[in-house]
Amino acid sequence: MTMNEADYKKPDYTTSHVSSWLETLGHLAGKKAYGIEIGCLEGRSSVWFLENILTHDNSGLVCIDPWSIPGTEETFDAVTRKWQSDFPAPSKLSKRKGLSYQCLREMPLNSFDFVYIDGCHQAANVIEDAVLSFRLLKKFGVMIFDDYPWDNGVVYQPPAKAIDAFLFLYADRIELLHKDWQVAVVKMGDWADATQDDRNLSSR
Ligand SMILES: C[S@@+](CC[C@H](N)C(=O)[O-])C[C@H]1O[C@@H](n2cnc3c(N)ncnc32)[C@H](O)[C@@H]1O
Repeated sequence: MTMNEADYKKPDYTTSHVSSWLETLGHLAGKKAYGIEIGCLEGRSSVWFLENILTHDNSGLVCIDPWSIPGTEETFDAVTRKWQSDFPAPSKLSKRKGLSYQCLREMPLNSFDFVYIDGCHQAANVIEDAVLSFRLLKKFGVMIFDDYPWDNGVVYQPPAKAIDAFLFLYADRIELLHKDWQVAVVKMGDWADATQDDRNLSSR
C-alpha cells in the first residue's frame, strides 16, 4: 500500500532522496535484509524503506525515535498500521521509542545491512549515532547520513562537522558511495581495536 499525502502532517523529508536510496540500497530489495532508522518522525521514510528495499518476507526495520514532537507518534502508528494491514505476515517493523544512544547500545553487533541517520542534528549526537551504528552494520552494510550541509544557525555544531570527522577517522574502513545533501558510505571492514593492539605488540 502506498501512503498518500493526507496520511502525513509534517513536511516531506523523504521524496527528494528516493533516487539516491535506490542507488545505494537497491541491491537489498528482495533479499533478507535488516535496517535501522534513527529519527522516523511520522514514518514516511520508514514506510518507503519497507515498501521498496525491505521487500523480502523476512526483512526488518528497527525504527528509533523518542517521538517527543506532539502528534508525530500518533501519525507514525497510524501510518505504519495502515501499511502493516496489507501484510498478514509477522511484522517487519520494530518500534523502539527512545533516544538513539540508548537504543543502539541494546542492539546486536554486525547484524544490519543499512542504517539511516536522521535523528538529532547536533554534531555530537550525529557522531555518536555513526560510531555506535557502525559496529551494528555487517560488512558491506551501508550508512546514510541526512542533511550534510544543513545548518539552521541555532544548533551548536551542524551535522557536517560530525560527518566530515567520521569520513576522516573511518577512511580506512569505509568507501564513499554518495555525497551531496546526503552522504552514504559502505562498511568495508571492522578492525577491532584489539587486533590493532595485538599488531603493535607483536612488532615490538
Ligand atoms: C527530520 S525528522 C526525521 C524524518 C524522517 N526520517 C523522514 O525522512 O520522514 C528527525 C526525527 O529525529 C528524532 N530525534 C531527535 N533526537 C533524537 C535522538 N536523540 N534519537 C532518536 N531520534 C531523535 C525526532 O523526534 C524527529 O522525529
